[in-house]
Amino acid sequence: MPKAKKSVRRPARKRSSGTRSAAARDAIALLKQDHQQVKGWFEEFLSARADGRKQDLAERICQALKVHTEIEHEIFYPAFLEATGDEDIHHEAEVEHDSAKKLIAEIERSGPQDDYFDARVKVLSEMIQHHVNEEEKRDGMFARARQSAMDLRSLGEQLAERKAQLMGGKPGTRDEQPSSRSSRTSQSRGKQDLRSTVRQ
Ligand SMILES: [Fe+2]
Ligand SMILES: [Fe+2]
Repeated sequence: MPKAKKSVRRPARKRSSGTRSAAARDAIALLKQDHQQVKGWFEEFLSARADGRKQDLAERICQALKVHTEIEHEIFYPAFLEATGDEDIHHEAEVEHDSAKKLIAEIERSGPQDDYFDARVKVLSEMIQHHVNEEEKRDGMFARARQSAMDLRSLGEQLAERKAQLMGGKPGTRDEQPSSRSSRTSQSRGKQDLRSTVRQ
């Protein structure tokens, strides 16, 4: 048996199997999976009673939404606008992101002991539900994207890579759990990027 080549160099960029599977999905499949993940956490929050559980879920929701809106804003939305020229859909989506980010920042500044905490999370869930519907509906952004010349496979890879970077270099799996605030110091610059884009 001939020996396998030993001189083959691996690319410098590491990819875990989780990242590879994320990269194998197209952009819309990846974004829809994010939507489903957050929807599940919102449902859990609305039925949760313990403050600790509410806090944990709110942190997951806020972190996931910050990453999701950021990768859409940086990568998917500009590609959509370039391919379709549809400013109405694009601009409306960006305005909805901005509103969500403000509420996310308020939720992150408060906590379950705050009288308005539950209301803020509930209103955020309604805003996101509306926004997700706008993206996923029959003639919405994703449907228009599918009809366009957008390279959804390549965009999916870019989204997965940026998502992993923003989440601290870890692949964005469904089981991802954000670290507690106090243990975030060693995580990547991605979260600092997010703070600067989300919080004024
Ligand atoms: Fe989305
Ligand atoms: Fe969005």
